[in-house]
Amino acid sequence: MKAVFIEDYGGPEIMHVGEQPTPRPGPREVLVAVHAASINPIDWKLRAGVVRQFFPLTFPCVLGRDFSGVVAAAGAEVQGLAVGDDVFGMADAKRGGTHAEFVAVDSDAVARKPRGLSHIDAASLPLAGLTALIALDEVAGIRSGQRVLIHAAAGGVGGLAVQLAKHRGCWVAGTCGGANIDYVKRLGADKVVDYASEDFAAVLRDLDVVFDTLGGEVNRRSAAVLRAGGCLVQITAAPVPPGAARADIAVKPATIRPRRELLQRLADLAERGALEPQVEMVLPLSEAAQGYERSRAGHQRGKIVLRVV
Ligand SMILES: NC(=O)c1ccc[n+]([C@@H]2O[C@H](COP(=O)([O-])OP(=O)(O)OC[C@H]3O[C@@H](n4cnc5c(N)ncnc54)[C@H](OP(=O)(O)O)[C@@H]3O)[C@@H](O)[C@H]2O)c1
Repeated sequence: MKAVFIEDYGGPEIMHVGEQPTPRPGPREVLVAVHAASINPIDWKLRAGVVRQFFPLTFPCVLGRDFSGVVAAAGAEVQGLAVGDDVFGMADAKRGGTHAEFVAVDSDAVARKPRGLSHIDAASLPLAGLTALIALDEVAGIRSGQRVLIHAAAGGVGGLAVQLAKHRGCWVAGTCGGANIDYVKRLGADKVVDYASEDFAAVLRDLDVVFDTLGGEVNRRSAAVLRAGGCLVQITAAPVPPGAARADIAVKPATIRPRRELLQRLADLAERGALEPQVEMVLPLSEAAQGYERSRAGHQRGKIVLRVV
């Protein structure tokens, strides 16, 4: 099969587009013919080796986590999915990537593709959408009427998080650069703070929840905008300075693992129009390195998706 693969850690120059063996699905796995696959920051982080302590790769390694496509084969123990089904989901980095014509995935990390969405749009949802769902619904437990701040609101995760928090009935603030202010407002944010010209910690206070997708200094300063008893929910981005939090708030890391039930919830939200996919750029598989570099620059709006078929 045609795939984007690496044989060592490094920069965009080490990314090959060429032939790799088509994976064989195990008893609980499905083989998916990938139609589209999005790029997430974890893809270039894995390639560069910056997360090798937690995710050591074995080479050659096919990159990519998100996919949308069609079930081409199913293991003997797979339930609820059959050859020919349109599906989307999130592959395990260690098992083999989705920036390829085929991927073998644990069947619990696969669900029916949202009806009415193209493969390109569906492929933009899994990792970023699961991150928003797990962080806001499961970890922070956001409720209607709460006041929520989403950092990096124009990004892949943030753009879906803003929409989800609005759908849950929250008042939503978001941070982004000046060029994205109107965009984040269109996503539904009630207040948008331009991080280049305004200090969010000076203009926001007494919030119930902050979703930190940036880490570092932003994480340290986020504690100040929460009410007593508020929740700072965070994912792994830049290292978080020690001793940052207040004693009267909860600081909760969100761990992102795909489950079919959660993917199904994501699909339901997309079908009802509550979550609208945000695709900034579509590239052919052969131009994956360009997409990875756009992601690494840290200023994309929504998602970059690779068209495979
Ligand atoms: N399992 C996990 O822990 C997990 C899961 C998912 C993601 N992540 C991590 O979370 C981070 C975000 O992921 P993503 O997919 O959303 O990334 P992304 O799409 O690449 O984020 C890009 C966005 O970040 C915004 N941004 C950059 N600096 C900012 C700042 N100082 N304040 C506010 N916004 C800023 C940019 O807005 P402007 O262009 O306007 O500057 C841009 O829209 C990544 O580091 C990723 O690796 C971790």
